[in-house]
Amino acid sequence: MVDMETIVSLCKRRGFIFPGSEIYGGTGSVYDYGPVGVLLKNNVKGAWWTSMVQERDDIEGLDSAILMPERVWEASGHLEAFTDPMVDCRNCKRRFRADTLAEEKVPEKIAALGVVEPTDAQLAEVLKGVKCPNCGEDALTQPRTFNLLLKTEVGVLQDGSNVAYLRGETCQGIYVNFKNVEMNGRRKLPFGIAQIGKAFRNEITPGNFTYRTREFEQMEMQYFVREEDAADQYEQWKARRMAWYKERLGIRPEKLRYRDHEKLAHYAKAAVDIEYQYPFGWKELAGIHNRSDWDLRRHCEYSGRDLSVYDEATKERYTPWIVETSDGADRATLITLIDAYDEDVVNGEKRVVLRFHPKIAPYKAAVLPLSKKPELSSVAKDIAADLRQHFFTDYDESQAIGKRYRRQDEIGTPFCVTVDFDSLEDKAVTIRDRDSMTQERVPIEGLAARIRERLAAPWDPNAARPAEAAA
Ligand code: GAP
Repeated sequence: MVDMETIVSLCKRRGFIFPGSEIYGGTGSVYDYGPVGVLLKNNVKGAWWTSMVQERDDIEGLDSAILMPERVWEASGHLEAFTDPMVDCRNCKRRFRADTLAEEKVPEKIAALGVVEPTDAQLAEVLKGVKCPNCGEDALTQPRTFNLLLKTEVGVLQDGSNVAYLRGETCQGIYVNFKNVEMNGRRKLPFGIAQIGKAFRNEITPGNFTYRTREFEQMEMQYFVREEDAADQYEQWKARRMAWYKERLGIRPEKLRYRDHEKLAHYAKAAVDIEYQYPFGWKELAGIHNRSDWDLRRHCEYSGRDLSVYDEATKERYTPWIVETSDGADRATLITLIDAYDEDVVNGEKRVVLRFHPKIAPYKAAVLPLSKKPELSSVAKDIAADLRQHFFTDYDESQAIGKRYRRQDEIGTPFCVTVDFDSLEDKAVTIRDRDSMTQERVPIEGLAARIRERLAAPWDPNAARPAEAAA
């Protein structure tokens, strides 16, 4: 399996992902998507939006604000419960999650406690004698609770009266708009609201590249149902989300699995993670949660607004239950990169290739004239301009053709269109397939339609990995 260093270096070299504010030394906890990365991430988000909003008539889209007042986070329970226990090292000033440190250093003591969520006092006891994993000194502080929400002030007065928070999860923007969408869309239960947007968490230990960062993007859908339907909807959404990763992102099925939560969040009745086998182990990719009626009840209570719905059949009002699907756009993009990474040997040389699902690939095609001669460039540029009307198309006329193929392989372009001197006579070009490396001579006329057809063909991530390259 590919290691993370290889992925990080490929991402930098080929313009997928850069460390945030790198010229100032970076922050280590936020990242910027480069020219190729933003295309990839947009395709991941687009695939989610298409399957959630465009293809379903029971889900509405939303784009709510990042800044939300303190009262929202009191209602959601985040001010009280969105915390992690942490310890500091008095010597080297590094900060660690106390529960993770205990699980790593003294797993038998943690197990002996027999509790899912140890208290700060219990953690203090088991961490006695544990040294700082960074500097090795016996200098760790007592564990204390740390709130993960990022706080700010809005408006001109800085007297503490205008406290706001950068949202810690996008779903709260959905809950506060529940009645707006229900009434505006004349919706009856069951129906869902979906949105993609930034979320912020002051994570104690960000790391593993974009896996855990302090600023990230979520793709969340809240499905509002009657209590008696919640368990069944939970199972249905669990299956749909797993299928989405396999069928729409083209992730290899054997790299994905479910993991039921033992420790339920303050709002949840049931919760499961979809996990991916990252180079650093099986870890969370996305979650599906049965949140009960907790969220809307709390927002009713704290806002003073009635968020219940009327059931025509029973002539009763009730508070909807919520089945949530919560995916990280950054994690989904990261696994798309990791899963696509492959190496083979072509003409005796190692070839690095990203075997993205063709629909997710940043560029669908690249037009490569065999030489920079003006008569070839002019035909090739016209072809690229035409293809760009249909899908993202790259154009490259620098360096030897072999190097240009390698570059396109490394950014996962499914089809390279080569324009040669014969093209001037026969009005045809060669399409080279990224996965099989087979070449097909086709007329310039109808090229976009032909590529579209090939993009729409069924694609299997394992079949796309021949043990030996064809050429
Ligand atoms: N509304 C429920 C919720 O936010 P979560 O499990 O805390 O649940 C959902 O987060 C998803 O958001 C995760 O499965 C992950 O994909 C993404 N995510 C959460 N924290 C993240 C972080 N610090 N960096 C990157 N992605 C994160």
